[in-house]
Amino acid sequence: MDRFDVIVIGAGAAGLMCAATAGQRGRRVLLLDHAQKLAEKIRISGGGRCNFTNSGARYDCYLSENPNFCRSALAQYTPQDFIDLLARYGISWHEKKLGQLFCDESSEQIIAMLDAECQLGHVERRMGVQIVSVSRDGDFVVETAAGAIACASLVVATGGLSIPQIGASPLGYRLAEQFGVALTPLAPALVPLTFHVEDAACFAELAGVSLEVELRAGKGCFRENVLFTHKGVSGPAILQISSYWTPGMEISIDLLPGQDAADLLAGREHSEQRVANALVEWGWPRRFADAWLKVQGFDVRLRELTPKTRGRLAEAIHYWRLKPNGTQGYKKAEVTLGGVSTRALSSKTLQANAVPGLYFIGEVVDVTGWLGGYNFQWAWSSGFVAGKNC
Ligand code: FDA
Repeated sequence: MDRFDVIVIGAGAAGLMCAATAGQRGRRVLLLDHAQKLAEKIRISGGGRCNFTNSGARYDCYLSENPNFCRSALAQYTPQDFIDLLARYGISWHEKKLGQLFCDESSEQIIAMLDAECQLGHVERRMGVQIVSVSRDGDFVVETAAGAIACASLVVATGGLSIPQIGASPLGYRLAEQFGVALTPLAPALVPLTFHVEDAACFAELAGVSLEVELRAGKGCFRENVLFTHKGVSGPAILQISSYWTPGMEISIDLLPGQDAADLLAGREHSEQRVANALVEWGWPRRFADAWLKVQGFDVRLRELTPKTRGRLAEAIHYWRLKPNGTQGYKKAEVTLGGVSTRALSSKTLQANAVPGLYFIGEVVDVTGWLGGYNFQWAWSSGFVAGKNC
């Protein structure tokens, strides 16, 4: 039987980083993946330019049952470490906004760089490999459709459930269950939200409209753009808040963030102007102002508002409540919330506490970043840390 020091299952972001790091330490590493192509999610990320990290990646930009868990890995391998790696390969990048760093040219450069790093570590790679089972008899034994392979350390880097069309599978969660490693509940995250039928009818004509808002749900609060779609709402503000949203929860939306609607309206008590025109003046897209005010019953002139209705309108503008009926699911989600419980892993090494030699890294772990490069940073950091220890 073939034997390696380390087998890494999953040749995605975390798996490539881990394999390269372990290989460069002199470990004999095999990287296995059932997909034919390397790192498909890196390839399609960031509109083909890969938002590879966020310069502000801190532990409190991640959701987890234990929010402190990711601190150690993020400190051991920082955004600057990844930027330094890019510099060694001459890959140029730019900051778009909010610390989000993208390649100037293509996400393919990141894949080629990680591939080159693996080659430096003499990592053997086998793609298109179906994993049939994993067992443990001293060594781990990975049974594949092409035969059994043994290893001392097994690293599970199979990612989450999102975008099954390009290789996502639940293998990592199944392996955790098999080895008695606890899981936290899974849910699609960084995902568009859908409307109830009544809301969909009211806002159908808004598809394509985008405006800046401040959204709150649970412990989440984000000021970004919301985009109305044919099915509901999307855009960065919604993707961010979706990680904090649970079914049945209302989202509170400030439609005029940073401004005081009561003050703005109070100065116009005698105006003949329509409320919709005033809101367009204060920054709302025309289509949104017309549709929203109609639904809210404020399709009137400013002078027609009484002090009471003016107060109600200001309140509705700053605290609009929307109750989505669901998400667009794993087909449209960027990531999976939840996963291998951080209670079952060492935060310093990513090794399972109860199963020496077994590691879980990347998205399969219950560490989920915000939108904006945070999830790749977790993949690099956790992959590096496991690669140093496996
Ligand atoms: P990843 O999914 O990268 O890799 C898992 C690997 O395991 C895959 O190669 C898969 O084929 C393999 N695998 C799965 N099941 C297997 C099995 N049964 N047998 C063998 N192999 C198996 N994040 C970010 O920070 N910035 C961004 O710009 C984006 N953009 C983005 C766009 C889109 C459309 C999506 C869907 C996601 C993003 N993300 C992102 C999220 C980011 O892609 C994600 O968090 C990381 O790729 C996770 O890295 P992993 O290595 O954990 O999983």
